[in-house]
Amino acid sequence: MTKKTTVPDIRARKGGPKITMVTAYDYPSAVIADRAGLDIILVGDSVANVVHGMSTTLEIGLEEMIVHARAVRRAEPSALFVVDMPWLSFHISPEDAVRNAGRIVQEGGAEAVKLEGGRKRIPVIERILDAEIPVMGHLGLTPQSVNTMGGFKVQGKVVEAAREMIDDARALAEVGCFSIVLEGVPDVLGELITKEVDVPTIGIGAGPNTDGQVLVYHDVLGIGLGHHAKFVRAYASIGEESIEALKRFAADVQSGAFPGEEESYHVSDEVVAELLRGQSSG
Ligand code: KIV
Repeated sequence: MTKKTTVPDIRARKGGPKITMVTAYDYPSAVIADRAGLDIILVGDSVANVVHGMSTTLEIGLEEMIVHARAVRRAEPSALFVVDMPWLSFHISPEDAVRNAGRIVQEGGAEAVKLEGGRKRIPVIERILDAEIPVMGHLGLTPQSVNTMGGFKVQGKVVEAAREMIDDARALAEVGCFSIVLEGVPDVLGELITKEVDVPTIGIGAGPNTDGQVLVYHDVLGIGLGHHAKFVRAYASIGEESIEALKRFAADVQSGAFPGEEESYHVSDEVVAELLRGQSSG
């Protein structure tokens, strides 16, 4: 049996070996990710786009996140199990944020929560940590800020913004986040922040020099058929393969090739004979 990965295990991975993380939104994807030996499984709020077809993550709520978390939890992953706090679940007040993080742990079975934002979120993070809930930070292209960023744009491209992000990362590490996701930032900034903080950084579009990498499950497997960000590498073409498989199924149904003998249930010859006799006399 694979050893359970815990928050302290991830915290201790600063500097290597590299941390691997992938999203999963349901039971089968969690089983598959866990069998592949990934270190962290994240129920990301990207479920809004990837599974529900929403255009932003602002549309997904706490109840839906908990439903997805419960499905993933049932896979009993050896990987550390982290769940995103959706938009507005940690913006109203620290009390509200603790209550919502608590629901994600109590009802969703999460072992840690992730939330977007820098120094602005420190009071909230402190309160969640105080409730013994580990927190993963998230900086850079934070999709919940799509409207203030003016779109899904790479962040920290000018010196002032890059310095602000370094200060945000320092603050998240100092307050006690056990790791920080860096999304959509220049490679040099990914590397600089990684050197500046003593907790692991996990990059997505942040270059190769972070302490780990995360991708969305559907992107890694090539399930989604739409536009992909520059940082995505697909390791399979499951979407295209699925279309071909379903076309073959439909063709076999039309031609009568499916189902065959081996895919049908049978009864004894006596039962068949009796049944047929009943038919003809009736
Ligand atoms: O929601 C998500 O999938 C994420 C990853 C990009 C880290 O936050």
